[in-house]
Amino acid sequence: MVPRSHPAIFSQKFSLTSALLVFSLVLNGLLLLRPPKHGQLLSDDNWKGMGWTRKAAEEAEAVSLQYQCSGHGYVFVDTFITDDNGSLACECNACYTGLDCSQFLPDCLANANEGDPIFLEPFWIANAEAAATVVPAWYRMSYDVKDGLEISLISPELEKQIRAIHELVGNAVTQGRYIVLGTGSLQLINAAVYSLSPFHAPNSSQVVSASPYYGAFRDQIEMFDSVESVWKGDARAWIKQTESLNSSTFIEFVTSPNNPKGILDESVLTGNNVRAVYDHAYYWPHYTGIPRPADEDVMLFTLSKLTGHAGSRLGWAIVKDYDVYKRMYMYVRVNTFGVSHDTQLRATRLLKAIINGYRQRQPKRLEDGQTNEKHLLFHYAYRVMRSRWQRVERIFSGSDRFSLQSLEPGNCTFFRRVTGPSPAYAWVKCEREEERECAGVFEKGGIIARNGKAFEADRRYVRLSLIKREDNFELLERRLRALVSSSAIVTY
Ligand SMILES: Cc1ncc(COP(=O)(O)O)c(C=O)c1O
Repeated sequence: MVPRSHPAIFSQKFSLTSALLVFSLVLNGLLLLRPPKHGQLLSDDNWKGMGWTRKAAEEAEAVSLQYQCSGHGYVFVDTFITDDNGSLACECNACYTGLDCSQFLPDCLANANEGDPIFLEPFWIANAEAAATVVPAWYRMSYDVKDGLEISLISPELEKQIRAIHELVGNAVTQGRYIVLGTGSLQLINAAVYSLSPFHAPNSSQVVSASPYYGAFRDQIEMFDSVESVWKGDARAWIKQTESLNSSTFIEFVTSPNNPKGILDESVLTGNNVRAVYDHAYYWPHYTGIPRPADEDVMLFTLSKLTGHAGSRLGWAIVKDYDVYKRMYMYVRVNTFGVSHDTQLRATRLLKAIINGYRQRQPKRLEDGQTNEKHLLFHYAYRVMRSRWQRVERIFSGSDRFSLQSLEPGNCTFFRRVTGPSPAYAWVKCEREEERECAGVFEKGGIIARNGKAFEADRRYVRLSLIKREDNFELLERRLRALVSSSAIVTY
């Protein structure tokens, strides 16, 4: 627990406090000016309750301003860790410990396993006011949302913002398309399979993806073990099996850009019975150039990799065909009855903050955004990811022990120029004959990497996540440097 004292922090505190005060005054002013609905006047007693936003905001800010956690941790409003006196203690980043997170754990492994996209935390701290969400205790308590006379599971404002962000970036066609929300895009994987599988057909649909593929496709199909679908592994193994392709439905998942390789992939199967589901989790300017708006029949997107808010669990599918949309919608309705309204509200605020950041500054090219970058999500995020990739490339360049995937610069219509690679993951191969279990080699080097076999690839490959916190990336970088320069041979 460390009270903030640094001058920069103090000025940040001061400006945040002033911002809060202005926000509170404006909000209260707006509430006072708001005409009473249906001619009903608010009584004095009603007005007395109107200070709740101020109190709630003060509580939230007091916590976040009071602790700096040595720059290696956080205290949130619901942090429960306490010291011996019952005061709050920090939630430390990986490999840091102590009440204020000041102690580094030297033997700690650099965890590059998960695709947890928290590299965007500093962006949201810098844009705290623009994207803050105030949730009244009575906010949308009902299961559903009334959209005119219709009952809906998606807030009309969120749907509008989802369409607007795709319009801003130019990465997907949404006009004339239907949108279904899921609790993360993970929920929509099975929703898509259910919707594309033939009703009452004698054969189950065969679900495939070209290796290396995102393992959740396989894990979900195998776990749900439905009569409608069966996991059939690597899509390439089926290319020549035209007989099978003509006699039963194939559903091919295509992750573009690919997780783990970062390449803009396309489906490998063709035929009347093949249905492709494009997972565009990483089709944003932070991770790839955007050559054109995607316009496939079923496309999955996720808030997780766009804004970094993986914990809010929001994904959406953009669907061309009404019947497929309706079945996906019914799947989500039966499965979870939609996505939390609190999450939808938060996502609406986040997307609006990104869009407003661009509307207010209107940068056209990457260079135009430099001075305002901390308010321009795609500029900021691209810069971070590009720099991390260059640092990783530098480490592996010249190594004959390890090789890194090769990525080319690509045209980005959003930044209006060709941009250098900035992928979410490094896909590394252990080249030495005797180092067949690459994940073991990395573990010996103090790094937790994801084994290639999780992607139905050879064990000679590992995936390293480049999208975690800066602390995590810096430790990974140090360990990688040591590993690449070490001459030890790790046999498995
Ligand atoms: C390709 C791909 N799709 C989907 C997801 C999961 O997204 P969500 O957090 O929305 O469930 C991930 C997460 O790593 C991913 O890599």
